[in-house]
Amino acid sequence: MTHFRVVPSQGVAGRVTVPGDKSISHRALMLGAIADGTTQVEGFLESDDCLATLTALERLGVAVRRPGPGRVAVDGVGLTGLRAPDAPLDLGNAGTAMRLFMGLLAPQAFDSVLIGDNSLMQRPMERAARPLRAMGARIDTDEGRPPVRIAGGARLQGQRLPTGVPSAQVKSALLLAGLYADGPTTVMEPAVTRDHTERMLRSFGCEVASRGGRTTLQPPPRLRATRIIVPADFSSAAFFIVAGCIAGAGPLIVEGVGVNPTRTGLLELLSLMGADLRLINHRNHGSEPVADIEVRPARLQGIDAPARLVPLAIDELPAFFLAAACASGVTTVSGAAELRVKESDRIAAMARGLAALGIRAEPSPDGIRIEGGQLTGGVVESLGDHRVAMSFAIAALRASGPVEIREVADVATSFPGFAATARAAGIAIEELP
Ligand code: S3P
Repeated sequence: MTHFRVVPSQGVAGRVTVPGDKSISHRALMLGAIADGTTQVEGFLESDDCLATLTALERLGVAVRRPGPGRVAVDGVGLTGLRAPDAPLDLGNAGTAMRLFMGLLAPQAFDSVLIGDNSLMQRPMERAARPLRAMGARIDTDEGRPPVRIAGGARLQGQRLPTGVPSAQVKSALLLAGLYADGPTTVMEPAVTRDHTERMLRSFGCEVASRGGRTTLQPPPRLRATRIIVPADFSSAAFFIVAGCIAGAGPLIVEGVGVNPTRTGLLELLSLMGADLRLINHRNHGSEPVADIEVRPARLQGIDAPARLVPLAIDELPAFFLAAACASGVTTVSGAAELRVKESDRIAAMARGLAALGIRAEPSPDGIRIEGGQLTGGVVESLGDHRVAMSFAIAALRASGPVEIREVADVATSFPGFAATARAAGIAIEELP
């Protein structure tokens, strides 16, 4: 077990770069795998989750080369070129990989079984299985959880499919399945979620129309290989954005970050709290907007988080809760029940951790109420959840004593090298065996 120990420091300043986007890296591998030709990927996130997807694709007969750091070349086998794996595909901790593979494998000619680590084996899969069955897929879960068993040879029909939950993973699974359907597939979501799949499908030559929470895909005859430059992951940048707001020094610039508007709800939430944030040097990496984010320390005020921002900040809410703990007054979040079914129950994990650091945090079934105050030092359990671990790693910037975070090995699922980057920014963090 690895732990973090972080002692209070002056603040964060300078320029940092965080690794590539996890969502985009998974999608680049999967679409590259079923395209015609070789897809070149730069800025690929070499984290445990994305490597689980890469290994699974190799087991499905796809050749993936890694010519250098962050570079991947995927030799596409075409829409119908995947081969039967010889054993269950183990996707580790990666919920995105499992949901997206459900959609990709449901229309294949062969059977497959998806499994994962202890956390993934507890996570809900019917949200994707149910609408896939409505398209004609033959797919079973174990009372809603993995293993997911997919029977080959199903013929899928294009449908209008409500997702029920605001989930980009479910939407993406249905769009991937829709590539093989006999007519257009329309996915209807209760709220807009991240749209990386739609953007990337278009760059592979597929026709996808999006409006509000409604997305329609026309099944293409083929996908054409392309070049993908993966921006730095906004969700990894989030820890440094919050650090820059709550710390004593600054400014801090996080470079080359993906600022797709379906991901950046955190910037709006922090701005409502009074944060001093600036997006500079705007550019595009293919279909994804990118910018540098400059953050200066500010006095934050508690807010009632607007419900519309919750799905646009879903992975950043743990870091936002930390900002709320450092704000004056009360912050409330509701409509965030999805947080209870992430890599851990993030509402419970954050409430418990904040309480261990002297902050009043009252969880509710779909959110939390946090009273800002003085953080103390203390010991926090991450429950093996990477985002919980990294959120508490920045807490020591405002704590009166050292903060120890237990069981942080899973940080490598999304942000290998987090501790080194945090040290470069000025956070006094040590990794303990
Ligand atoms: C993701 C979608 C979100 C997010 C996850 C990545 C994706 O999950 O929490 O980290 O890449 O599509 P949900 O679809 O369950 O909201």
